[in-house]
Amino acid sequence: MTGAKIFTVANQKGGVGKTSSVIQLASGLARRGDKVLMVDGDPQGNLTLFFGSRDKLDFSRLLADLASGSPAKAEAYVNSRVRKNLDLLPAGNKRLRLEMRDTEVERAYGPFADFIGSLTSRYDWIIMDSSPSNSPLERLLIRASDAVIIPLEFQLFSVSGLESILEEVKSCSAEAGKEIHVHSLLFTKAENRLHRVQTYRELFSSFHIPVYEICKSEYISRSLEKSRTIWECGPSSYAARDYRTLIDKGFQVRP
Ligand SMILES: Nc1ncnc2c1ncn2[C@@H]1O[C@H](COP(=O)(O)OP(=O)(O)O)[C@@H](O)[C@H]1O
Ligand SMILES: [Mg+2]
Repeated sequence: MTGAKIFTVANQKGGVGKTSSVIQLASGLARRGDKVLMVDGDPQGNLTLFFGSRDKLDFSRLLADLASGSPAKAEAYVNSRVRKNLDLLPAGNKRLRLEMRDTEVERAYGPFADFIGSLTSRYDWIIMDSSPSNSPLERLLIRASDAVIIPLEFQLFSVSGLESILEEVKSCSAEAGKEIHVHSLLFTKAENRLHRVQTYRELFSSFHIPVYEICKSEYISRSLEKSRTIWECGPSSYAARDYRTLIDKGFQVRP
């Protein structure tokens, strides 16, 4: 055991399936028996809303505490067992915006990486959701990670989005003085009948990053509406099959 591997699920674009992927991936790993912590790094708090846990101090408060040098005890922020083997560090769902200046977020870069690093001995995987923005907040999460998962849609303008997030990962790597990998591209809402889908597959394969596809499925929207994971509401759906492939191939070995 070398401690948890830390991932951020990131794309500066909204609605590409970041939060749904954190939910299904993290809960799938937890069902396999791995110990998983999710961090809701999006102040909009969609991930937190899904799991309905609000009794702990939130992510924004954690950053404020870390930026001001206050000691941050994990127990004050982490909801344990939102499911078996699955914990959550929530985001405040009342405030839609992070009430922190960029400079304060930047001050929290190092302390946040240390805080998350201090939790790695308790988990196999730490998976962080991020907000759709190219902001210091997203950089804070990426800098604290070992690797990034990039959800995308099969669209031509996803290419420029991908290029910009790859640039960001690279510059975060340089600033943090460590290698931050791109774990995979995750095509959510994949449909074979989509126009030019084969062209997109070839185009994205030229980036030489492992690619996974999650088919477009009603079960995903139903899962979000009902606050039930795909394993709870549609374990034999095609979407569950696809997330299982991601888990089995991309998260084969516990760290
Ligand atoms: N595989 C999928 N099939 C169908 N709808 C999906 C799929 N993945 C995500 N969605 C839908 O896309 C919308 C945005 O997803 P979400 O995870 O909230 O994106 P983000 O966190 O990137 O903003 C949601 O309404 C969700 O139901
Ligand atoms: Mg989201």
